[in-house]
Parts: sequence; C-alpha cells; structure tokens
Amino acid sequence: MTLEFFASASKNTESALCDELRELGFQSVRLNRGGIPFRGDWSEGWRACLESRIAQRIMVLMGRGKATNADELYREVQAVDWGLYLTAEKTLSVQCVTVGSQLNHSGFVALRAKDAIVDQIRERWGDRPSIDRDDADVRVFVYLANDKLKIYLDLSGQPLHLRGYRAESGEAPLRENLAAAMLRMSGWDRQSPLIDPMCGSGTIAIEAAQWAQGLAPGLARPTFGFQRWASFDEDSENQLRLMKGELRGAARGQRPSVIARDVDGEVLDIARGNARKAGVRLSFKEQSVFDLQADGPVMTLVSNPPYGKRLAATPDFLDRMGAVFRKLHGWRIALLAGSRAIEEAMKVKPANRIPIPNGDLPCDLLIYEID
Ligand SMILES: C[S@@+](CC[C@H](N)C(=O)[O-])C[C@H]1O[C@@H](n2cnc3c(N)ncnc32)[C@H](O)[C@@H]1O
Repeated sequence: MTLEFFASASKNTESALCDELRELGFQSVRLNRGGIPFRGDWSEGWRACLESRIAQRIMVLMGRGKATNADELYREVQAVDWGLYLTAEKTLSVQCVTVGSQLNHSGFVALRAKDAIVDQIRERWGDRPSIDRDDADVRVFVYLANDKLKIYLDLSGQPLHLRGYRAESGEAPLRENLAAAMLRMSGWDRQSPLIDPMCGSGTIAIEAAQWAQGLAPGLARPTFGFQRWASFDEDSENQLRLMKGELRGAARGQRPSVIARDVDGEVLDIARGNARKAGVRLSFKEQSVFDLQADGPVMTLVSNPPYGKRLAATPDFLDRMGAVFRKLHGWRIALLAGSRAIEEAMKVKPANRIPIPNGDLPCDLLIYEID
C-alpha cells in the first residue's frame, strides 16, 4: 500500500531535508514549505524515522477532506479507522494548526477531532482512551488550511532530534537535527577534515562523524511512536529488527578526521561520553579557539559560538575569534550566530546567510569562504 508521508522541517531547512530524503532514496520527494512529502509503504516511514538526520518528525497522512464547520470536521475524522492504532487502553493526543479557515480556533478543532476519535473507540470497545498531552501512545496532528483538512498520525513519538546519545549537557546545546542541517548547508564533502573548535556537548562533531560514516541517527533511539501503536505486533518487531540490522551493516568504513575542541574541560568530558554513546570516534582536545592554527591542513569549520552575556561572549571575545577565523585561508566556515555581534566581529561578508532558529532563539547560519 502506498502511503503519503510528511517529514516536518525546522524553518528554512526544507531544501536540506529535501536533498537528504532524495539521497536516501525515498520516492516522490517534493520540496515544500514546512516539511517534505514523500511516498512509500509503512516500512519507508519507519526507515525515515531511523535515517533522517534533519527531519523533526515523520507523519503519515490518514485522511483529507473539506471542513468548513464542526460537523464536517467530525465526519472527516471519524472516516479514519482509528481502531487499527488506538485501543481504550492506549493514550491519545491531538494537536491542530489552522490557517485561513472558517474554523479558525486551533484549540476547538483539536477538541472536536479528539471527540471524533474517542467516540469511535468507545463505540468499538465500550471504553475510551485517555488523553496524554506530553507522551501519548498515539499522536494525531490536524492541519486545516483554507478549509482543507489533512489528518496525520505521527510515527516519531518524541521528536527525532532526540537521538538517544546526548546526556543533558553543557549550556545552550544545539538541536541535533539543526546541527545536521548546518553540516549539509555548509557544503562539507564528508571526506575532508572537519572541526568544531567550540564544540560544547559535541553535537555538531558527532552528527558530522555519523553522517560521514552513513551511521543511521535513529539506531541509538530506544523507541519510536509507531512502536506503541496497537498495530505494531511481533511481526512488525521482527521486521524493524531486520531493518536496523541492515542499516547497521550499511554504515561505511569511511572515517574522515572530525575534531572537537572546547576550552571547558568538563564540557569536553560530556562530549566524550556522548560520542561514545553515539558510536563515533572524534579527536578531542581541550583548547581555546584563539589557539587555532592557520598553518595546519585546510578544513571545514562548523560551529555554534557562544552568544550573549550568559555564555561570556564579550565583544572582545568575538573580535578575537573573528581575527583568528579571518586568517584561515582556504577554509570554509559555517557559524550558527545567535547574535548580530558575531557577524559584525567577522568583518567580512558571508557568502550566504540563512535565518534558522535554534528552538526559540532566532539565529543566522553564516557561511564564509575565507580567501
Ligand atoms: C553555544 S556553546 C556550543 C554548544 C554546542 N554546539 C552544543 O551542541 O553543545 C559554545 C561553547 O563555546 C565554548 N567556549 C567559550 N569560550 C571558548 C574559547 N575561548 N575557546 C573554545 N571554546 C570556547 C563554551 O565552553 C561552550 O561550550
């Protein structure tokens, strides 16, 4: 059975995600705002959860229709056979986004959709599932745009950036899927050396090493949402185990040098532990970014420098960092800047500037090619 999936993307990472899904061999991949649709059977949805580094969530389209009022909405949601995934013993959450529609209150739409699902299960089993907003077994997303309804079931469970390798860490950790998007956008060839001289908990370096080795990012995750559905039986369990085994076997021997440095030894210990759990070998060193040598091999530098007073990024710190980076002739440098001061301190024009938020923080990805 061919299903339509939707891989949701952080803002402005859509084209990186689209490239990634095409490279991974998914079918009917289309560039789209907010996320990337693709097609396939159920196992392709599982594979996307395991293999995508950039997606936030993978969802499957369960139904579509028109909903100009509450009754139409209720009917459309009831047209889906929820009993395949949900029983009275399981928990449910329903979220909604509505734009340009007559039903313009997302809370109301979510509530009505939830009623339609719960009523169907109650009719079938004589009892109803309970609601769990934070960690439901079955998560439903309802999108209503210009009165057109799309009903999705989420395969991911916890968002995909939670890979399972990161111990809660140093300050201001970067989301793993954003680090993966930065790496792809930086133009790194996955063969030449890469450095993060302010690596914190090591997210960028770990994602880089996993990507270069073709190590699927979801292999360290204990579980995905789809494993908690009623339909996920012993056969499914075996099929998933096989898929994971194949993905493990497909990892390449290629191991470019990936270097992770930080001035803070304690943070570096956290990064070491994270890399071990992620199954990658990095070259760690406690060193200040000011001691980065311009006369060594040419590398790609991808980093998320400290920003704001909290992380002690004084103007003096950024000016000194900019002066060091400007001497790295022939290097490609991609910086996730949480403050304008970083671009000012670089004093050269970036070849590209892409606004991408890190969680709630507006940031710019600045890409430099140093002459
Ligand atoms: C925004 S955090 C990086 C977060 C990281 N991307 C992560 O995922 O955890 C900035 C890092 O810069 C480090 N740092 C501050 N001053 C430094 C210096 N002079 N040289 C190297 N690292 C420095 C801090 O210790 C901190 O870990």
